[in-house]
Amino acid sequence: MGRIVLDTSATIDDLLEIMRKRRSCRLFEPDPVPEEMITNILEAGRWAPSGCSSEPWEFIVVRDAERRRRFSEIYSQQRKFSEERDAGPEGFPWPDLSYLFNVPVFIVVAGDRRLNRTYPMLYYRYDIYQQSMAACIQNMFLAAAAQGLGATWLSMGRHFEQELLALFEIPPGYRIETILAIGWPDLRREVRERRPLAEIVHYESFDPSRARSEAAASARVTATRGVRRLDREISGETPSTLGFGDKPLEKLGYTVESIEDRGKR
Ligand SMILES: Cc1cc2nc3c(=O)[nH]c(=O)nc-3n(C[C@H](O)[C@H](O)[C@H](O)COP(=O)(O)O)c2cc1C
Repeated sequence: MGRIVLDTSATIDDLLEIMRKRRSCRLFEPDPVPEEMITNILEAGRWAPSGCSSEPWEFIVVRDAERRRRFSEIYSQQRKFSEERDAGPEGFPWPDLSYLFNVPVFIVVAGDRRLNRTYPMLYYRYDIYQQSMAACIQNMFLAAAAQGLGATWLSMGRHFEQELLALFEIPPGYRIETILAIGWPDLRREVRERRPLAEIVHYESFDPSRARSEAAASARVTATRGVRRLDREISGETPSTLGFGDKPLEKLGYTVESIEDRGKR
C-alpha cells in the first residue's frame, strides 16, 4: 500500500517562517486594509479544527469609525481597573491602549458556549469549547501575519463585557471570546524569544527534575511580566529608553516597504 500524502505545495518551512515571524502588534498605521485580506483571515478562522466539528464561532467585522471609537473607549477602561487591582512594580504590564484608536478593523470573535453540549459528558466540555475558539483565533492570527498585517489578540474582561455585547448587538447565548485588532503594523513590533525546546520537551514522561515548585512558578510569573515590560519598550509601545532605532529591521525579519506595495502582495 502506498502512503497517503497531503496534496499541497506549501512547505513546513513556509509555515514555520510565518509562525516565527508573527508578532502581536500594538502600534498600527491607520491605512485601510483591503477587504480580500480580511476575507482571508475569516477563511482561516473558518477552517480551524473544533471539538466534534462544533464550529462554535461567529465573526463580526467592524470597520465603522464610530463603533471602533466606542469600542476603543470601552476597552481602554480596563486599564483603570488593572491600575486599581494589579498594580505596582510587579503588576500587569499593560500596553498603552491608546493605539486602539488607530486600528482600522476589528474582528469580534464570538462563540456559542451552549455548543459545549456537543462534546462527550465525560470530558471537560467548557475546556474543549475554549480550545476550539483558541484554535480558530490562532488560525486568524497566522493568516494576518502571512499577509504582512499586524494583529492583537484582545482578551475579554468582565467589567466591560455587557457594554461590548450591547455595542455589537450580540444576542443572548453568545459571548465575545476575543477581539482581534487588525491593521498595518508600524514595524516596531516587539521581539520575543521563546523557551528552548530542550527546556519544554519531555520524552515518555514528565522529567521530574524540571517540575516547577510553587515558588518557581511565582518567580516565573514575575520574570515574564518583567520581560513583557521590556518588550513594550523595544516595540515602542511605551516611550523607549532602549532606542529601537539601534536595532536593524532586517535583523528582526522585517523590510520597510511602501504602503502602495503592501496592497499588491
Ligand atoms: C489567550 C491570549 C490572550 C491574549 N490577550 C492579550 C490581550 O488582551 N492584549 C494584548 O495586547 N495581547 C494579548 N495577547 C498577546 C500576548 O501578549 C502575546 O502573544 C505574547 O506576549 C507573545 O508575544 P507575540 O504574540 O508577539 O509573540 C494574548 C495572547 C493569547 C494567546
